[in-house]
Amino acid sequence: MASTSETKSPAPTSPEPEAPTSEVAAPTSASPPAAATASSPPVVATTAPAATIEAETEAPEEEEFENPYSSTDSAYSDSDLESYTTSLKSSVLNYQYENGRRYHAFRPGQYFLPNDELENHRLDLVHHTMTIAMQGQLHVAPLDKPQKIMDIGTGTGVWAIEMADLYPTAHIVGNDLSPIQPKWVPPNLSFEVDDVESEWTHTPSSFDFIYSRYMLGSIQDWPRLFRQAFRALKPGGYIEILEPDSTLRCADDSLRDDSPLLKWNKLFVEAAETSGRSLVAAPKYQGWLEEAGFVDIKDNISMLPNSPWPKERHLKELGGFHMAALTESLQGLSLRLFTHFHNMDVPEIEKLLVGVRKDIRNRRLPTYYDLHSIVARKPE
Ligand SMILES: C[S@@+](CC[C@H](N)C(=O)[O-])C[C@H]1O[C@@H](n2cnc3c(N)ncnc32)[C@H](O)[C@@H]1O
Repeated sequence: MASTSETKSPAPTSPEPEAPTSEVAAPTSASPPAAATASSPPVVATTAPAATIEAETEAPEEEEFENPYSSTDSAYSDSDLESYTTSLKSSVLNYQYENGRRYHAFRPGQYFLPNDELENHRLDLVHHTMTIAMQGQLHVAPLDKPQKIMDIGTGTGVWAIEMADLYPTAHIVGNDLSPIQPKWVPPNLSFEVDDVESEWTHTPSSFDFIYSRYMLGSIQDWPRLFRQAFRALKPGGYIEILEPDSTLRCADDSLRDDSPLLKWNKLFVEAAETSGRSLVAAPKYQGWLEEAGFVDIKDNISMLPNSPWPKERHLKELGGFHMAALTESLQGLSLRLFTHFHNMDVPEIEKLLVGVRKDIRNRRLPTYYDLHSIVARKPE
């Protein structure tokens, strides 16, 4: 069946004329949800990661580790098991530090954002922002008594936790390169340390729903990811992707060529392209999903304002939270990409970010990103 495309982009509304040009505070009209934090004890893979684990140095002592293979009914001898889990512990928890920020240890260097407390707070803000964008819905795919759900790149696991509460009879699996999820979660939820770009070991046709949110800049080969998801889904199962396209847009002609925000965005997108993990690929997902065999594909594009500049109430609230998440994350978003791919040093980056923050908070500069909400079905 041919795919369909639905584009519902709210017409850009002009910025408020009465708005001050100076910085605005983060909105207070709604509070972010109770957050899973990086200080929670790490959770480790409940299944063996798809990849070979290599031994590295010992993990920091304060990092608690539970042996996921503690069953006595094991094919491994005790010593094999011990050395395997020691390697697992080290390769998962031996975090890397760069410019004062903490990064993932499993498949080191693969992902550009930190996994420390600051970043995890941002992820919880992003979750709240996305919940506003989706009018409070955790998903838009029409699920009917789902039994098995996957959250690709679960982050702090906050979406997966809420889904587990919403569907208590479903089992939710959240995977990530970093074991940064909380330990105490609903019984129908498990977290795995895994690389979703490795060959999936899940039973074919076993999932009802696969969800992927904010994975821009993370994935090298989206067409392959979609093929793997297609195989893992049951016939009739759904995949859903929620993701901005990082092309900077402006609702009027006020974005000047010398804007620090425009300069930063260009550097940001270019560095990610050079790294092989695009930040602007969302418009291509529909075609790649179709190639993978999905049908009834809908790509709904809406506006993600960068500050509370729109007049319309919902977009204003959305912009306020997005501004908070964006300004909080600018350093994290820039450090690895700009030092590795633009050869910039930290003072140079920080200097640029001063102007970027000012531009983002300037309500007379009505910038936004396109937010893609894509749903597709595996045919019966
Ligand atoms: C921007 S965060 C989004 C987290 C979550 N999906 C959300 O919307 O709150 C991206 C997450 O993907 C994870 N990630 C990046 N590359 C990955 C990979 N190849 N396999 C598994 N997880 C990955 C990162 O560790 C990070 O937690």
